[in-house]
Amino acid sequence: MHKWIIAGVGTLILCVMGLLYAALGDRPAHPSGTGCGSCHIAGSDVEPDQASKLVASQEQLCVKCHERAVQLSHPSGFVPRRSLPAEFPLDWKGDLTCSTCHVTHGREPGLLRGKKRGREFCLGCHDPAFFRNMKDAGTSLVISGHLDVGRGRGTVDIDAHSLHCLGCHAGGHSGGGSVSVSRNGVLRHASGTAPHPIGRSYREASLRGGFQPEQQLAQKKIILSNGKISCISCHEAYKKDHGKLVVSLERSGLCLSCHAK
Ligand code: HEC
Ligand code: HEC
Ligand code: HEC
Ligand code: HEC
Ligand code: HEC
Ligand code: HEC
Ligand code: HEC
Repeated sequence: MHKWIIAGVGTLILCVMGLLYAALGDRPAHPSGTGCGSCHIAGSDVEPDQASKLVASQEQLCVKCHERAVQLSHPSGFVPRRSLPAEFPLDWKGDLTCSTCHVTHGREPGLLRGKKRGREFCLGCHDPAFFRNMKDAGTSLVISGHLDVGRGRGTVDIDAHSLHCLGCHAGGHSGGGSVSVSRNGVLRHASGTAPHPIGRSYREASLRGGFQPEQQLAQKKIILSNGKISCISCHEAYKKDHGKLVVSLERSGLCLSCHAK
C-alpha cells in the first residue's frame, strides 16, 4: 500500500516537473515521461558540460523505445574514419551516434540537427558522388536515416513512385517545394495545399463509398501506383513540365476525378 502512495507521489512530482519544464520553455522536451537518470549518470542535475556522460551507449538507451532504429538504418556507434562538419558532434568516445544527427531534447519534428532536410541533410556529410553511384541515386535512402522506424510501424507502405519523388522533395517546411509525410501516412505540402493520405489502397477506400469507380480513373487521367494513391495520381510524372497537375484544380476538377460529389 505504502509503495503505491510513494509511487503516486513520485509520479505527481515528475508530472509537476514536466509541467514546469514546459511552462519555462526549458528543455528537455523529448523523451518525455522518463527519468534523466535512466540515461545521464548525473541523474536529474544534468549540467550541459557533463551531459555527455551516459550510463550506456545511445544505441542501447534509445533503442529501448525505438526498437528498429538500428536495424536497416544508417550505421551508428562507430568512429568515422574522416572528420565531419562541426554541426554534427561525435560523442565523448568519438563515435558517430544518434545524437550526431539528432537533437535528443529538441521539439522540432524529426529532431534533426541543422536546417537541411531530405537529400540536403545527407549531403551535409556525403558528397553527391556517394549517392550518384547508387543504383537508385540514393532516393530510397535520403528520405530518412532509417528504413523501418515509424514508417515501418505498419501504417504507411509508401508506393515506389512516391518514394522516387520524396528522394528529392522530402524535407521540412522551410524551403519551397518540399513535402513531408507524417507517421499516419498523410502527405503535407510546404504551401499547405491539399494535405492528403498517400500509399493507401484506392479500392479499399472506395468500398467505403464516396469515390468514382476505379475502372473510370484512367479515363479521367488518374494513375494509381500499384493500386495506391501516390504523388503520380495528382502530378504528371514524366512530362517536360515537371510536377504539373494531371487535372486542373479549377472547380476542384482534380479532386472530383476521384471523389464523388
Ligand atoms: C534517453 C536518454 C536520455 C534521457 C532520458 C535524458 N537525456 Fe539528456 N541527453 C541525452 C543525450 C544522448 C544527450 C546528448 C549527449 C551528448 O552530447 O553526447 C543529452 C544531452 C543533454 C543535455 C545537454 C544539452 C542538450 O540538450 O543537448 C542536457 C542539459 C540534458 N541532456 C539534460 C537532461 C535532463 C534534465 C533530463 C531529464 C529530464 C534528460 N536529459 C534526460 C540523453 C537523455
Ligand atoms: C546519419 C544520421 C542519423 C543517425 C546516425 C541516426 N538517425 Fe535517426 N533519423 C535520421 C533522419 C534523417 C531521420 C528522418 C527525420 C525526418 O525527416 O523526419 C531520422 C528519424 C528518426 C526517428 C523518427 C522516425 C519516424 O519516422 O518516426 C527516430 C525514432 C530515430 N531517427 C531514432 C534514431 C536513433 C535511436 C538513432 C541511434 C541508434 C538514430 N536515429 C541515428 C538520421 C539519423
Ligand atoms: C522512454 C522512451 C524513449 C526513449 C528512451 C527515447 N525516445 Fe525518442 N521518442 C519517444 C516517443 C514516445 C516519441 C514520439 C513522440 C515525440 O515526438 O515525443 C519519440 C520520437 C523520437 C524521434 C522522432 C521525432 C519526430 O517528431 O518524428 C526521434 C528522432 C527520436 N525519438 C530519437 C531518440 C533518440 C536519439 C533517443 C536516445 C537519445 C531516444 N529517441 C530515446 C520515446 C523515447
Ligand atoms: C553526420 C554525418 C553524416 C550524415 C548527416 C549522414 N551520413 Fe551517411 N555516413 C557517414 C559516415 C561517416 C559513414 C561511414 C562511411 C563513410 O565515411 O562514408 C556513413 C555511411 C553511410 C552509409 C553506409 C555505406 C555502407 O555501405 O556501409 C550509407 C548508405 C549512408 N551513410 C547514407 C546516408 C544517408 C542516406 C544520409 C541522410 C539520411 C546520411 N548518410 C547522412 C556520415 C553521415
Ligand atoms: C532529382 C530530383 C527530383 C525528383 C526525383 C523529383 N523532383 Fe520535383 N522538383 C525538383 C526540383 C529541383 C524542383 C524545382 C525546385 C523546387 O520547387 O523545389 C521541383 C519542383 C517540383 C514541383 C513544383 C513545380 C512548380 O511549378 O513549382 C512539383 C509539383 C514537383 N516537383 C513534383 C514532383 C513529383 C510528383 C515527383 C515524382 C514523380 C518529383 N517532383 C520528383 C526535383 C525533383
Ligand atoms: C491529392 C493530390 C495530390 C497528391 C497525392 C500530391 N500532390 Fe503535390 N500538389 C497538389 C496540389 C493541388 C498542389 C498545388 C498546385 C498548384 O497550386 O498549382 C501541389 C503542389 C505540390 C508542390 C509545389 C509546392 C507546394 O508546396 O505547393 C510540390 C513540390 C508537390 N506538390 C510535390 C508532391 C509530392 C512529392 C507528392 C507525393 C509525395 C505529392 N505532391 C502528392 C496535389 C497533390
Ligand atoms: C487519386 C484519387 C484522388 C484524388 C485525385 C484526390 N483524392 Fe482525396 N482521397 C482519395 C482516397 C481514396 C481517399 C481515402 C484514403 C483513405 O483514407 O484510405 C482520400 C481522402 C481524402 C481526404 C481525407 C478524408 C478523410 O476523412 O479521411 C481529404 C480531405 C481529401 N481526400 C481531399 C482531397 C482534395 C482536396 C483533393 C484535390 C486536391 C483530392 N482529395 C484528390 C482519393 C483521391
